[in-house]
Amino acid sequence: MIPPAIRRLDTGSAPYDLWSLAVEDLAALPDCLSPAEKIQSQRFRHRRDHDRFLMRRLLVRHVLSLYAPLPPEAWEFTPNHFGRPELDPPVPSLAFNLTSSGNLALCAITTAGEIGVDLEDTHDDTQAALDLDLLVPGVLAPSERRSFDSLPPASRPAAFFRYWVLKESYAKARGLGLSLNVSQVAFPVEVPGLDEAGLALRATIPLALDPDPARWVFRTCRPTPCHIAAVAFRSRAFGRRRSLETFLLRATK
Ligand SMILES: CC(C)(COP(=O)(O)OP(=O)(O)OC[C@H]1O[C@@H](n2cnc3c(N)ncnc32)[C@H](O)[C@@H]1OP(=O)(O)O)[C@@H](O)C(=O)NCCC(=O)NCCS
Repeated sequence: MIPPAIRRLDTGSAPYDLWSLAVEDLAALPDCLSPAEKIQSQRFRHRRDHDRFLMRRLLVRHVLSLYAPLPPEAWEFTPNHFGRPELDPPVPSLAFNLTSSGNLALCAITTAGEIGVDLEDTHDDTQAALDLDLLVPGVLAPSERRSFDSLPPASRPAAFFRYWVLKESYAKARGLGLSLNVSQVAFPVEVPGLDEAGLALRATIPLALDPDPARWVFRTCRPTPCHIAAVAFRSRAFGRRRSLETFLLRATK
């Protein structure tokens, strides 16, 4: 059964699912943290960091248990070299990624390839205080920079966050996090209405960064009026693609 506290977002015909958990629903979700996660959760100095950690960890445990026959408390994770948690032992063909911002967490999950997700609360005080002049040169590609610079100043923060979540979704799908130079990856400018329609976007990714860039597709969405999210997805090169529904073991029962 799907816990009522978690919500499946509409991803249309995309080959992945996207689940969300809001901070106000945290208490309604049965506790399933590992002893190590419980200790880690007590180390946060700020309440919001504590809550976001709890949201991510509880969400991923409950979501994984919808796709494979293990209870939420039984999942074990090992971080890769760049900090991305991987299932231990691995579950072949199941890939997931997590993000949180403001009062929301998302978990993207697929059985068809690699996946990364990023979320930003564009109304959050810390985001509003970001110095875009400082960030833009290290984040935007030259083509993005040209369209960004032509925007009226009031439109620039929203445009920056859209580029940011797209780029970070790719960095997270690769499992590389901040070690990847995201200014090398270029996305098309936003066409109002098209991004929201869930259409797949393509990025320009140099071969030196990614020997197989052609199968990456990206989508943005707005889980709430304050949040923008992006998912990066790359289908597996070969092999049978199985429907997500065949994996969503318990949700349909
Ligand atoms: C961890 C990282 C990939 C994302 O950090 P973040 O945006 O602060 O945090 P998010 O909430 O989006 O994601 C956190 C989750 O990403 C996952 N993660 C951690 N390292 C990862 C990696 N190398 N690759 C993919 N996913 C990773 C983890 O599941 C983590 O949650 P957990 O610790 O509970 O397991 C970080 O390396 C990063 O890129 N930080 C950028 C922060 C920044 O500069 N923001 C400016 C915004 S304009």
